[in-house]
Amino acid sequence: MWIADMDFPVAEPILAALRERLTRPIGYPTLNGNSPLVTLLREKFAAQGLGDMPADGIAFLPSVVPGLYAAVNALSEPGEKVVTMVPVYHPFHLAITNLGREVVGVPLLDSGERWEVDWDALDAACAETKVLMLCHPHNPTGRVWDAEELRRLRELAIKHDLYVISDELHADLRFTGQPFEAFAADERVRARTVTVTGPCKAFNTAGLGIGALVSHDPELVRRIMTKTSGLMGHPSALSITMWHAALAEGGPWLADTVAYLKDNRDFLGAFLHQRLPWVKFHPVEATYLAWLDLRTHAQTADIQNFLLNEAKVAIHNGPVFAPDAQKPLYQGFVRLNFATPRPILQDALERMAQALG
Ligand SMILES: Cc1ncc(COP(=O)(O)O)c(C=O)c1O
Repeated sequence: MWIADMDFPVAEPILAALRERLTRPIGYPTLNGNSPLVTLLREKFAAQGLGDMPADGIAFLPSVVPGLYAAVNALSEPGEKVVTMVPVYHPFHLAITNLGREVVGVPLLDSGERWEVDWDALDAACAETKVLMLCHPHNPTGRVWDAEELRRLRELAIKHDLYVISDELHADLRFTGQPFEAFAADERVRARTVTVTGPCKAFNTAGLGIGALVSHDPELVRRIMTKTSGLMGHPSALSITMWHAALAEGGPWLADTVAYLKDNRDFLGAFLHQRLPWVKFHPVEATYLAWLDLRTHAQTADIQNFLLNEAKVAIHNGPVFAPDAQKPLYQGFVRLNFATPRPILQDALERMAQALG
């Protein structure tokens, strides 16, 4: 229950489109402003507040993580600071440190009800940087930054003249019932923002690999992609077919899947409340990843191995989600993937409850 993909079969319309694609020659894929995928993507972006996305503001990626690296690489220099909020999906802090930049991780605060931004700390951190990496919705806490938080984040970006790299890969897996608001939905931050996204979380297609890096400023996109041209592979023909089918015909499957995940989230919350009430968990607003605080348990120092050996449940260990210096902050936290049929979720939770006592 660790890596972020789902134990569910891929939507039938996507499988049908892939089968059909295999009956035709698989030459170099072409993706330009007239491609059906680009048309559907532009519609999708418009629904998230990114209307009028110029076709040359869309660059395709072999998957989303290379877009994070490419953006950090182009928008900052070695030795410079790049800010993000921790805990965070590990390729965020790894992109920064692997490229020789310095990561400034601003810890999120536990309000008792949800994970929140430490505004004073973020303001101070942003004063020393040119780049903010935002995860929206946020992996691993499952927060969807709300309208007021987005407003404040945008004010900070403007105040400190920052570039913002906004990873919105989990946007379609929301349980909020509200439309998704992209960070760059506000025109005042469009020219300073690159958004990265892809179909792999919502449609469970991570093995096919594809993503997009987009901005209303095509020059920014060109700058980022030029720096890695020749290093960044093109998406495969099959992944293009897959993303197109997902956008064109995947809606009903996605709605069912989100409803199932929401019930799993509630099941998990109710189970913890009844059987492991000392585990802290703030119900996630998006994603199928639960960020659990087990720090009061006697085995907190080695919780990952304890759960693996005693419960036979594999989870992601909390410290993974922070850069080296901050790892101790998250010892005793775990990230649990609940995108699995309910009987499996129940079995795993029963075994965890037995092991944890
Ligand atoms: C926020 C976020 N970005 C990117 C990725 C990975 O994307 P890809 O597999 O397309 O590189 C993940 C995977 O879990 C993720 O959670």
